[in-house]
Amino acid sequence: MRLRIDGLAYRGFGVGRHEGKVFFVPLAAPGDEVICSIRKDHGRYAIADMLEVIRPSRERIKPPCPVYGACGGCQIQHIRYERQLFWKKEWIRESFQRIGRIVDLCIEDPMPSPREFDYRNKTSVHVAGGLVGFVRMETRNVVNVEQCLLLEPELKDCYHMVREWVRWRGDRPDSYRILLRNATSGEGLVVVHDPRAGEQELRRLREALPGFLVVRPGDHATMGHSCLSTQFLVAAESFFQINSSMHEEMARLVGQFVGHGQVLVDAHAGVGWPSICLSSQFREVVGVEISRRSVDLANMNAKNAGATNARFMRGTIGGIVRKRKLPTRPDVLILDPPRIGLARPDLKAVLALKPSRVVYMSCDPVTLARDVAHLVAGGYGIDRVKPVDLFPQTFHVECLTVLTRKG
Ligand SMILES: C[S@@+](CC[C@H](N)C(=O)[O-])C[C@H]1O[C@@H](n2cnc3c(N)ncnc32)[C@H](O)[C@@H]1O
Repeated sequence: MRLRIDGLAYRGFGVGRHEGKVFFVPLAAPGDEVICSIRKDHGRYAIADMLEVIRPSRERIKPPCPVYGACGGCQIQHIRYERQLFWKKEWIRESFQRIGRIVDLCIEDPMPSPREFDYRNKTSVHVAGGLVGFVRMETRNVVNVEQCLLLEPELKDCYHMVREWVRWRGDRPDSYRILLRNATSGEGLVVVHDPRAGEQELRRLREALPGFLVVRPGDHATMGHSCLSTQFLVAAESFFQINSSMHEEMARLVGQFVGHGQVLVDAHAGVGWPSICLSSQFREVVGVEISRRSVDLANMNAKNAGATNARFMRGTIGGIVRKRKLPTRPDVLILDPPRIGLARPDLKAVLALKPSRVVYMSCDPVTLARDVAHLVAGGYGIDRVKPVDLFPQTFHVECLTVLTRKG
């Protein structure tokens, strides 16, 4: 079937229409004319595989990665970077319209990443049946990958050494995972999630990776990241933004959005980013975080930074508000939930807390639009929507939304 692609859907699929049916075509670019065949028919729409590009779009470029398409980690590497930013903005607009029923919203231009490649400071390497690489989301199969262009240069070298080490260990029937993280301090962490790896084997990996701490999962290792002169201890399992090249710029932007005031509450505080960086703008900073380990590190990070007005407690915003452990009507509430967005009790707690301003940092436009619609229905107006491109070459998009309580 011949198809003209006229859009790009969230998740990076090209979109074309034929006889009233919508076709989603992975790896097609808007403006392409393609030959494709139906992979899965869902009635009103179908997923189709691109067999040939008859006329390439001006948005299309030759993807530099040799395993692009097979690996699945990147979805829009075949599209020019400035057009990636355009489509990400469109996905946010479309989510607010379709899911949040919020129209006529001014979505600002995305802040581009200074690095289009070489930006990831973290990756999970999968080993299975002699293959070393990444897991394809849809199939869960491991794809053998020689090199990942998204990784920071230090992590590329580390990835190479880890592949060599796996090869040296020899073919094994088992499958396992190795986590690689690189920090701005020059330290790195390698966590080998294979209980069968012996001490001698780990020693060999340590010798090959002098800048990295090679540990097992329960070893409680930390590494140091710095952002705007604040040092953060980060544990292997702690969340920390994966694009270090945008971290400071993003903290400055959040700092501008939160402004100054008496009380700042951070509802998904992680190890204290960005609230510790912003603590001088408030009299009191209170962070809430579900992970015990992250709470401990956040309190330690606040202490090390001399942020005596900042404290972190374990829980969810819903639970903490119910127990009346937070100052009511804070000036600002930062929300930065995982992709699934806010749970109902947490959303209710946000409205009960009545913060004057909410800064919602989201990595999923769908759940962002859903939650913002609830906040709007609860009496908030949207001031700004600013995408930040933390994840070039992929469909992932970070977006900051600022809301103010009316009346
Ligand atoms: C996207 S991360 C953001 C962390 C931090 N703001 C940062 O950027 O480094 C989300 C954080 O929320 C925590 N979390 C997940 N669900 C939560 C919940 N229901 N209540 C509080 N924290 C939660 C996770 O452990 C994680 O640290």
